[in-house]
Formats: sequence, C-alpha cells, structure tokens
Amino acid sequence: MDTRVTEIADGIYQVSTYWAEVGPTGFRFNQYLIDDEQPLLFHTGHRATFGPVSEAIATITPVEGLRWISFGHLEADESGAMNQFLAAAPHAEVTHGALGCMVSLADLADRPPVPLADGDVIELGRHRVRHLDTPHVPHGWEARVLYEETTGTLLCGDLFTQLGDGPAITGDDIVEPSGQAEDVFGATCLTPTTGSTIRGLADLSPTTLAVMHGTCFAGDGSQALLALADDYDDRLAERS
Ligand SMILES: [Fe+2]
Ligand SMILES: [Fe+2]
Repeated sequence: MDTRVTEIADGIYQVSTYWAEVGPTGFRFNQYLIDDEQPLLFHTGHRATFGPVSEAIATITPVEGLRWISFGHLEADESGAMNQFLAAAPHAEVTHGALGCMVSLADLADRPPVPLADGDVIELGRHRVRHLDTPHVPHGWEARVLYEETTGTLLCGDLFTQLGDGPAITGDDIVEPSGQAEDVFGATCLTPTTGSTIRGLADLSPTTLAVMHGTCFAGDGSQALLALADDYDDRLAERS
C-alpha cells in the first residue's frame, strides 16, 4: 500500500492511498487536507489506513492540530477513521449536514458533531468552505459536498469515481472514465433528481474537482458536472 501527498490547489493537499486488490484494476482512496489556521480534513479514510494517512498528514501539519473532521457521507472509506482522528486531535470537531448529525453522527461520533444548514460557510483562515446538501448524491440521504470558495475547489466525494492508479490531477476528461467505474460498481443512487442536483453544483463553476477515487480535474468543472449529470440521466432512462 502506497500513500502519496499532492497539493492539488493552493493549500489543499490530496492524501491518496492505492489499493491494488480493489476492483479490476486497483483503486485509489483520497483524503483532502485544507491547510489553514483551522485545518480541515475531508474524508477520514478507513480505520485500517489511519496510520499511513495520519503519517502523511503529519508531513503537512500536526495531526493533533486538526480543527475540523468532515466527509461527504457515512461509509467506511469516507468516515471510518472519524473517532481515531477525534482521539488524535483533541480540539477537532466533526461537522456535517444537520440531517446526518441528527440521524447518525450524534450517536456515532465520540464528541458531539457540529450541524450545518445548506449553504453554511466555515471560515478556516484564508480558505472558506461552503456546505451543500446533496441528498442521495452520490448515495446516502445525509450526502453532501464541500465547496472551497477561494480556490474554486469542489470537494465532490464519490462523484467522478475512477478505477485504477491514475495521477493526482489532470486536465483531461474524467467523465468517460467515471462511466467505466459506474459500469463496474453501480455505486451511484440513480433517481429522478440525481441529474438536477449535479446541475446545481455546476452553477458554482468550480475550476478544480477534488474526487475521492481516482484523478482530480483542473479545468471547466461546470462542463464536466453537466456531462456527468447527462450520463446519469441516460442511465436512469435506460432502466425505466
Ligand atoms: Fe460512498
Ligand atoms: Fe468513497
């Protein structure tokens, strides 16, 4: 297992661990550290990778100084190591949408979570992250994304999931590779509102898409999101 660290936008670091045995061609699990006065971690990784992930974070900032622990939805790779990070960082708090806090995190997190309403912003210092509810996108009723406004980075979790051992970031198309991963895993919750929720994210006009699995995209994020929304609408139509 190899964990690498790459700065994918100003002050935003991808911590990426490659698991060769997952999927047909291996799979990457990415966490994001926003390095600021109030450091924020987006995705904790599995409990099993807390060691290498926390060691990688420590090359950027002390783990005990983390202020916010955050993730898109509840799942082993997104939130598995949540309580390990809470134990390692005594001033850290978990923050999530109000629904996720009420339904699950108030019980699962070892310290009380901080609930956010749709559109709420947390000031980290020179970075600002906006919480956006995206119910059932990509999956889970508590699902949400974070948008870092100063760099135009959308922390979009499992959206644009790609297989294999790709680079940290590219300007090439990631929509087609995402379709290949969807063909393999079928991980996305396809509903009549999937496409419209993703089109709402396109209105942000992000310039970097920070993905949880695979390679980040730098470029016209709106165009990529609109193409992804169309792909999901096509998939839903094929099943109806
Ligand atoms: Fe997920
Ligand atoms: Fe994931």
